[in-house]
Amino acid sequence: DDVVTRVKNVQMIELGKHRIKPWYFAPYPQEMTKMGCIYLCEFCLAYRKSSKCLERHIKKCKLKHPPGDEIYRKNTISFFEVDGRKNKVYAQNLCLLAKLFLDHKTLYYDTDPFLFYVMTECDSRGNHIVGYFSKEKESTEDYNVACILALPPYQRKGYGRLLIEFSYALSKFEGKTGSPEKPLSDLGLLSYRSYWSQAILDLLINTKPLEGQETPQITISEISELTSIKKDDVISTLQWLNLIHYYKGQYIITLNKELIKTHLRSMSKRSRTIDAKGLHWTPRD
Ligand code: COA
Ligand code: NA
Repeated sequence: DDVVTRVKNVQMIELGKHRIKPWYFAPYPQEMTKMGCIYLCEFCLAYRKSSKCLERHIKKCKLKHPPGDEIYRKNTISFFEVDGRKNKVYAQNLCLLAKLFLDHKTLYYDTDPFLFYVMTECDSRGNHIVGYFSKEKESTEDYNVACILALPPYQRKGYGRLLIEFSYALSKFEGKTGSPEKPLSDLGLLSYRSYWSQAILDLLINTKPLEGQETPQITISEISELTSIKKDDVISTLQWLNLIHYYKGQYIITLNKELIKTHLRSMSKRSRTIDAKGLHWTPRD
């Protein structure tokens, strides 16, 4: 029952060169969780109860990257699009792995309605999974992300931001606005807030006044269309940044020098960004 299943059941996982301590319960088979550590194939995400068993698997496993289509590549970063129906076993293994770090999302045994965008970093041995996000093939609520995860060894290095940026690059390509599925985790909200703030500030700073006008003009709808960030999220971000004020009968956005300076400083620190030129993708409809 619910209470029992919430107890953390996996002590450790081994994934490629990483040993990772799980955060939450994940429904791996009980015979797996009795041992101290679960051993995962870093390419197909199959799990074994001992390193011996995994060695045997690795000798047979042909994968050196996630299954599916490589739809993006820039320098060492790639994204693979995995169809949850065509690659069901992989998708289920990915959801199991992700559940170890996600508390509040339900696990999708039925992976058919989802696409999985797996981000990898490559070296001479292959394309190593860094993180992923899932996306409903058809979302009635304009969600462009269902679950999102940067694996712990890769966290706090900008990869989560890169995943988010990529999800919006896909929405821009589709000519749609999108939003992550709710509820967001604390870390999810922090990361989205940061992305939304930067994307919106970037746009505002680069918006020039029309000829003959003193101040630049932009509507919430325009911000939303240009960033693919859903209107509600644009508004909540502007409010959170305390940039929106009601003045003489209309809402105005005021940028101050300090904020612009902080923004430009954090943009200059960013090393990795998504380059739309690296995207080779046809949205399905
Ligand atoms: N404490 C404070 N700020 C944090 C943070 C933390 N632990 N983790 C991320 N942030 C902030 C960063 O400061 C950064 O903002 P900045 O650029 O303005 O400094 C922003 O969030 C993105 O950081 P980044 O390094 O790109 O994020 P990440 O690689 O650590 O990935 C998640 C973020 C949410 C994907 C990752 O924490 C994760 O996978 N968590 C577990 C799964 C989860 O909760 N997913 C969301 C479900 S809705
Ligand atoms: Na990171």
